[in-house]
Amino acid sequence: MLKKLSDRLRSWCGRPWGPLLLLAGGIAVGLGIVATGSTILLLTSTEEFCASSCHEMTYNRDEYKGTIHDVNRSGVRATCVDCHVPRTGIPLYFRKINAARDLWGHFVSHSIDTKEKFEAKRYEMAVRVWTYMKQSDSRECKACHNLDKAETSEKAKVRHARAKTEKMACIDCHYAIAHNEPEGGPGPQELDIKNK
Ligand code: HEC
Ligand code: HEC
Ligand code: HEC
Repeated sequence: MLKKLSDRLRSWCGRPWGPLLLLAGGIAVGLGIVATGSTILLLTSTEEFCASSCHEMTYNRDEYKGTIHDVNRSGVRATCVDCHVPRTGIPLYFRKINAARDLWGHFVSHSIDTKEKFEAKRYEMAVRVWTYMKQSDSRECKACHNLDKAETSEKAKVRHARAKTEKMACIDCHYAIAHNEPEGGPGPQELDIKNK
């Protein structure tokens, strides 16, 4: 069968319009893949999708409601993807592939499908997020926050200067800003994770 196919392809290529047709076919298939891929990326990157498509995420969503990143003086919001998903190419793809683990948890192992199971796993999940943020040099926070341009309090100025010289991550001090504080172990500053 393969042989038949390759014979047929070869005979097409022999005709004047053959290579053109193959090229056009290749481009059409390629465009199809790109369009499907970007649609999936877009649809899975909305607050609606992240916070509501499985009930496991609704606990964190309810905690986030009303925090400064949801409602503030300016009406500029940071939602789930702004803090949890990179905006740029390669890191975005890796993050999305990694999120496939959540599908397994939801459909197969049911590892956090009750509030009790969720709370039992929260600390472990928080450490995963903290590790990610430390190792990405607080990339997602910094995409919005430029501390050199902020009118901060004296206290904040002093701490932020120290944060810079000691290469600390934002969440070393500002953790549990969008969700309840995880219990069960040391906070991000005491964890033995190297900041980038
Ligand atoms: C999509 C943009 C965006 C992202 C991403 C973001 N923030 Fe914010 N952040 C804001 C806005 C807007 C405010 C409210 C500013 C105001 O009203 O003064 C804010 C406020 C804050 C405040 C001030 C809290 C207060 O009570 O005054 C802290 C601290 C903070 N963010 C830390 C972080 C950290 C840490 C991260 C990363 C985990 C982060 N932010 C990610 C936009 C963002
Ligand atoms: C060493 C601890 C520390 C680190 C690390 C740190 N901050 Fe802060 N930050 C503070 C303190 C302390 C305040 C003042 C809070 C208060 O007065 O309640 C503050 C305040 C803020 C505020 C509110 C402005 C104000 O004047 O209160 C924002 C926004 C903020 N930080 C963002 C960030 C971001 C973004 C990062 C990472 C790039 C970061 N911080 C890293 C300690 C830190
Ligand atoms: C301002 C940044 C920010 C926003 C917005 C945000 N998160 Fe988080 N999220 C964090 C941080 C930081 C952690 C690590 C634990 C902590 O410090 O609270 C975390 C942890 C989590 C965890 C692990 C469990 C836990 O509680 O530690 C889940 C699940 C989660 N977030 C889901 C969401 C969902 C869903 C949304 C949108 C409704 C959202 N997050 C919005 C910063 C954010």
